[in-house]
Amino acid sequence: MPLLSLENITKSYDKKTLVLKKFNLSVDSGEIVAIIGKSGSGKSTVLNIIAGIDSADGGRYTFQGNDMLELSGDKMTVFRRENIGFVLQHFALIENNTVFKNIALPLYLKHEPKKVIKEKVVAIAEELEIEEKLGKIPKQLSGGEAQRVAIARAIINQPSLILADEPTGALDENTGLKIMQIFQKLNKKGHTFIIVTHDPSIAAMCDRTIKIKDGKNI
Ligand SMILES: Nc1ncnc2c1ncn2[C@@H]1O[C@H](COP(=O)(O)OP(=O)(O)OP(=O)(O)O)[C@@H](O)[C@H]1O
Ligand SMILES: [Mg+2]
Repeated sequence: MPLLSLENITKSYDKKTLVLKKFNLSVDSGEIVAIIGKSGSGKSTVLNIIAGIDSADGGRYTFQGNDMLELSGDKMTVFRRENIGFVLQHFALIENNTVFKNIALPLYLKHEPKKVIKEKVVAIAEELEIEEKLGKIPKQLSGGEAQRVAIARAIINQPSLILADEPTGALDENTGLKIMQIFQKLNKKGHTFIIVTHDPSIAAMCDRTIKIKDGKNI
């Protein structure tokens, strides 16, 4: 059984224009998959449907065999918190919170004990080499550091699936490659990745590439 599968997914935002036109995607546990396609082709929409932030209009979406389009909003939120880490292009960090609090957010939502939260945040910050930044706020960070904070937040819950929307888009080439090396290291530990990118050299570091054009597989 694949980890997740999208079958003939259709989606429109305004009822007239179809953004996804019978889009298909099947991802096995342990893969790193790249999604590549032009601006406006529907890449972020695919990730948002997988994360349950958007809902598809038609087709089938299964995660570990479960029919996801049947879930209520509340159940989808719980599913997302427990199974998915989302890394966004522009980091989406909370500006007035420290790096520590930004990384810890998923654990606060789960009401984990303070001591456990501290241990987990420090451990992940050490792994991503941002432990000296834990007391800073996002605007005091470089782009690469902010992206590592966003990654730390996305993986702190040990999600089975990590979705990354242009994770290297705002970074220089070297920092982008470093982020990819972090992903590959995490992938070896068992995390599955779906990475949206415009960059062929990033896609080349993935197991395979899915191409999307105008909402369709090509
Ligand atoms: N919330 C929304 N409301 C209306 N239209 C939307 C919405 N989100 C996306 N769209 C439209 O759906 C299409 C696909 O958007 P999507 O964000 O998935 O593209 P993308 O491939 O991620 O593009 P980019 O590379 O620029 O991020 C676009 O035409 C966009 O204008
Ligand atoms: Mg996008």
